[in-house]
This record gives sequence, C-alpha cells and structure tokens, in this order.
Amino acid sequence: MKDRIEIRGCRNYDELLKVVRLCDAAFEKTPFEYFERHILKDATLSPEDTRILIVDNEIVSSVQVFPRTMYLNGGKIDFGGIGNVATYPAKRKFGYAELVMNDAINYMKEQEFKFSLLTTTINKYYDKFSFETLNRELIEINKVSPNFNKSIRKFNRVNDFGVVKNIYEYYNRDGIGPLFRDIKYWEAQFDFCGEDENLFLVFETTNSVEGYIRAVRENDKIKILEFAAVNDYLQIFKSLIESLCYQTGINDFEMFLSESEKQKLQLKNYISKIDSDLMILLFENRLTELQKRELTKYNNINYWLSDFF
Ligand SMILES: CC(C)(COP(=O)(O)OP(=O)(O)OC[C@H]1O[C@@H](n2cnc3c(N)ncnc32)[C@H](O)[C@@H]1OP(=O)(O)O)[C@@H](O)C(=O)NCCC(=O)NCCS
Repeated sequence: MKDRIEIRGCRNYDELLKVVRLCDAAFEKTPFEYFERHILKDATLSPEDTRILIVDNEIVSSVQVFPRTMYLNGGKIDFGGIGNVATYPAKRKFGYAELVMNDAINYMKEQEFKFSLLTTTINKYYDKFSFETLNRELIEINKVSPNFNKSIRKFNRVNDFGVVKNIYEYYNRDGIGPLFRDIKYWEAQFDFCGEDENLFLVFETTNSVEGYIRAVRENDKIKILEFAAVNDYLQIFKSLIESLCYQTGINDFEMFLSESEKQKLQLKNYISKIDSDLMILLFENRLTELQKRELTKYNNINYWLSDFF
C-alpha cells in the first residue's frame, strides 16, 4: 500500500510537542530542553511556522521557519530563519526532509520574506535548495585578566530593560545583520536564547547604564552572545570581559567579529578562524544588487548569537 504523506504547518500545541520529541530523537547531542525553548517558548512563532511531514498519521520530519527582521544599510528587511530540520533516524533517506524543506521555502516566499538564513554543519545538504555558505570570523580572546569593577553589575530585567533595549538599537541600527527587536521579540528571546543570567552584565556610570554584555559558559570558554554600548566601545567591552573573567575564573573568550564590528571595537590581540556554518538563500527579485552584495560579502553579517534560532 502506498504511504499517505501530508505536508503542512502544525495546528496545535500537541503537534508542536511531537516535533520537540522528533528533534530530540534526531539530534543526538542536543538536550530536550533546547528544543522546548526554540519550539514551544518562542512567542514570535505561530504553530504553522513549524512545518511537518506526516506519514500514516505520524510526524516523521520537521523544519521550522522563524520570522525575523534584520537591520540592513539603515533600513529593515524581513527574512525567514530555518531551524530544527529533522527526520526520525528510522525514516531517513526517503527524501522526507527535502519535501519539508521545499514546503518551508514556499511558505517563506508566501510570507514575502526576502531571503532565508540557517546554520548547519552539513552545508552540502543545503546546496540542492540553492543555499550559499557565508564565511564569518570566529575570534578567540585569550588570557584576559580578571578585574573587579564597581561600575559593573548584573542586569536587572525590571529596571534595566528599557535602557538596554535603547542601547541595543543605538549600537546596531546602522549595521548589517543584527536583528530589529521589538518588545515582543525581546521578551521571546529572553525565553528562548538560553543565556546564563549571571553573565548578563551592565556597565553603569553615576547615573546611567552605558553598555552591556551577554554571555554563556561553554566548556572552558566564555562565549559572548552580544555586546553593545553608547560610547567608549573598546573600553567598556574590555571592562565587561574582565569582570566576566573575575566572576567566572575563565580567561578565554570567543565571539563572532564581523568587519564592521572590527572597525567599531578596534579590538587588538585576538586569534581569528573562519567559520562556515551560516548559509543564505536569496529569493529571486526581492533584493537590490546592493543588498545582495552586503548580505553575501565576506564576514559582513553581524549576527549576534543570542538571536540564534
Ligand atoms: C539531515 C536530515 C534532516 C535529513 O533527513 P532525510 O529525511 O533523510 O533527508 P533526505 O531524504 O531529503 O536527504 C537525505 C540526504 O541527506 C544526507 N545527509 C543526512 N545527514 C547528513 C550528514 N550529517 N552529512 C551529510 N549528509 C547528510 C544523506 O546522506 C542523504 O543524501 P543522499 O540523498 O545523497 O543519499 C536527517 O539526517 C537528520 O534528522 N539528521 C539529524 C539532524 C540534523 O543534522 N539536521 C540538520 C541540521 S542543519
């Protein structure tokens, strides 16, 4: 008997929960709670953004479309993030993921998105959908000296959110790659990004917060998720990482550093390596030549890890 295949968006919480279980089974090394955060807790998503393939009443394959808006050349542009591409191990190599990916691409086009982004370690798989790899620089800042600084304290969501949101906008709005964040997005992101709240620090002078950093511990390193400030970028950045070092006892840091961030931060003494995990799919006739160039130029996109989907 021929299998009955249906491809569509999720309709309810119960189906989303099944996708969480599917992703947990498909990605061996990623914990269940990661998929709970990115599938169930991201309030920017509607159920139908999670695309599924059903064979004989069982969800066997999924792809998630994350509706996002990026700052680009002083303007804003809508795109779709792709994540959680998964097929149950026993159901692989039947072309199921390919079918759901094609559905997700059509779905993104219907939403009028201009392009799509994803991160992967199996870049070759996405060639057939015409995704291109974007090379970025991942830098290591080693042997940071610990330093206690009385201008630095933990972020307080009730009191600091408004000013941090403004600092983020000020620092990022002329960039290429950072996301435009409205309040709904910020609130969703607090729930899905998986940061360590103790490593969200603000730099405060006598009467105002002037910069902040968000980070997580990963193995024996600190991974910087995002940074922003309103002045003295390098000085505030250095003070914040020295405080993180003082607080955690970890001296080694890692972050993505785009070409524009290099200009802004004027950071010296780091080791840089090329990362090729990010891929882009440009939708025909929806971008100007300048926008295409800006999006695909070497190490041009500044995508903060806290926005990772
Ligand atoms: C990747 C995945 C979704 C493919 O699902 P699927 O339903 O088998 O996909 P398709 O049938 O459309 O395509 C299968 C192809 O993907 C290739 N593929 C799967 N995993 C791969 C990997 N880790 N590296 C390279 N190629 C891979 C298969 O070799 C096969 O190639 P072929 O068509 O030339 O034989 C599935 O293997 C999976 O769930 N993997 C674990 C989760 C994961 O890595 N997701 C992608 C993260 S970006």
